[in-house]
Amino acid sequence: MFKELYEKNVSTVAKSDYDALYEEHQKTLKAALKIERRLHKIMKMSDRILFEKLDANEKYAKQVKRYSYIIKQGDSQGKALLKTTYDLEELLKIELENERLLMQEIEETQKEVVFTMGAIGESRSKETANHVKRVAEYSKLFALYYGLDEQEAELLKQASPMHDIGKIAIPDAILNKPAALTADEFEVMKEHAQIGYEMLKHSTRPLMKAAAIVAHEHHERFDGRGYPRGLKGYEIHIYGRITAIADVFDALGSKRVYKNAWKDEDIFPYIQERAETQFDPKLVEIFFEHLEEFVAIRDALKDEFY
Ligand SMILES: [Fe+2]
Ligand SMILES: [Fe+2]
Repeated sequence: MFKELYEKNVSTVAKSDYDALYEEHQKTLKAALKIERRLHKIMKMSDRILFEKLDANEKYAKQVKRYSYIIKQGDSQGKALLKTTYDLEELLKIELENERLLMQEIEETQKEVVFTMGAIGESRSKETANHVKRVAEYSKLFALYYGLDEQEAELLKQASPMHDIGKIAIPDAILNKPAALTADEFEVMKEHAQIGYEMLKHSTRPLMKAAAIVAHEHHERFDGRGYPRGLKGYEIHIYGRITAIADVFDALGSKRVYKNAWKDEDIFPYIQERAETQFDPKLVEIFFEHLEEFVAIRDALKDEFY
């Protein structure tokens, strides 16, 4: 450009001036190029920094977005899971409660059936429903003081009302004879223990098994002179030994077709004298040691029509 200018104006500009001017211009150009390169470099650098930063920010933002999504998802999933857990827990509670009620119902029904069967046996012989209730309570008390655990004592309490169930097979003429039985009649009467056992022995239920033992052995005597098998001492199951003393204590104090109710002053010596002959001596000992409790049961479950 300078060269063209010079040639056009060669007449007005000296050659030396032109050279100086040209040289100056070259210097300025170099410097400008240098500055431009540097600027370019700086711009590139700043761009890179800027882009890198943007990039990083974007990545970070994406990550934050993702994390918050996960957290949100997790949170709502967690909440849903928690709700499901609570719902399940509620359902389970209801299920368990239903099951408990059902079990309770079954148990109550079972107890009632057993008790009613016992009462049927007793009512045929004109004994009162309270007799079996009292025998049940005495039996549990004996069992606990004898050392059986609560569960077994309760089992015996439920089973003992069945002791005379076999009496349903004994003819009325014998069962309700208002006088002493003849030897033959007594033989028939004695059959109720075996009959009761035969009726109950097939069950595998603990309650029925216990009731079978009670029916079978409640007339066995500690000295071996009882019936139906003449078992002796500890051969007689504890359920049998307990029901024997509980039944006799209650029968003596109750009015029966063949006898009046005995007074305590006659009952107590009767039982005391029969320790080791008719009754397990340990049970006789328990009876007198806790006499007040046995009498309290009797008083609480009195026969109403006396
Ligand atoms: Fe009996
Ligand atoms: Fe009885």
